[in-house]
Amino acid sequence: MITNISRHLRVPFNVTMGIVAVGLTLAACDALNMKSESASAGAMPSIDQMIAMSMQNMKKVMMMPDKDRAQYVMTEQQTALKHGEQLFGSSRLGTNGFTCATCHPGGDTTGGKVPMGDMQMLIPTLKGAALTFPKYKVPNDAVITLPEMNNNCVVMFLKGQPLPLGSKDSRDLAAYVSYLSQGKAYTPGKQSM
Ligand code: HEC
Repeated sequence: MITNISRHLRVPFNVTMGIVAVGLTLAACDALNMKSESASAGAMPSIDQMIAMSMQNMKKVMMMPDKDRAQYVMTEQQTALKHGEQLFGSSRLGTNGFTCATCHPGGDTTGGKVPMGDMQMLIPTLKGAALTFPKYKVPNDAVITLPEMNNNCVVMFLKGQPLPLGSKDSRDLAAYVSYLSQGKAYTPGKQSM
């Protein structure tokens, strides 16, 4: 399915680097979190540690020759999308044998409904869905982000544990669900009910 990502991902370099910088900062926090967790459970890295790790990553990427850097960024993004696509089609996210693709085949909809207690919920297409978040969702009674929405489906429909927000699985699944919206209009808050 993801054959032409590199073609679609051609965005201005400064935009790419901005996104990468944010991603690397978050990745740095993750790496530090993991280290500190093994040392003392739940301890947060200091701000200085987080800044140091971000600077280290910035240096690593920005010191690359332009061509290598472009290749590196592209590879990171493609790898994330491929992993996200695998998760989308994997029953290991849940416990009932379902995958995201069971109800959203190819990122679309079966057109069917899912029973929720006394109610029937229409299965929406995910093409364009990422461009409607953050938005209000009834089950949460709150304005939620795309990774949180993905978790709603993990829990309610795959009977699985929610993916920790900020984890690689959560990010990559959100990256893939976002990719399904390419070419669609940005319609923040648009409801699918
Ligand atoms: C059993 C069917 C089913 C499965 C399996 C399922 N979903 Fe859903 N999905 C739904 C239904 C029904 C809704 C509408 C729920 C709502 O709006 O609260 C929905 C809504 C969504 C939305 C929000 C769409 C919008 O426009 O608001 C996203 C994003 C989403 N699903 C992603 C996923 C992901 C990712 C997975 C796999 C982890 C998944 N879904 C698995 C049935 C399913």
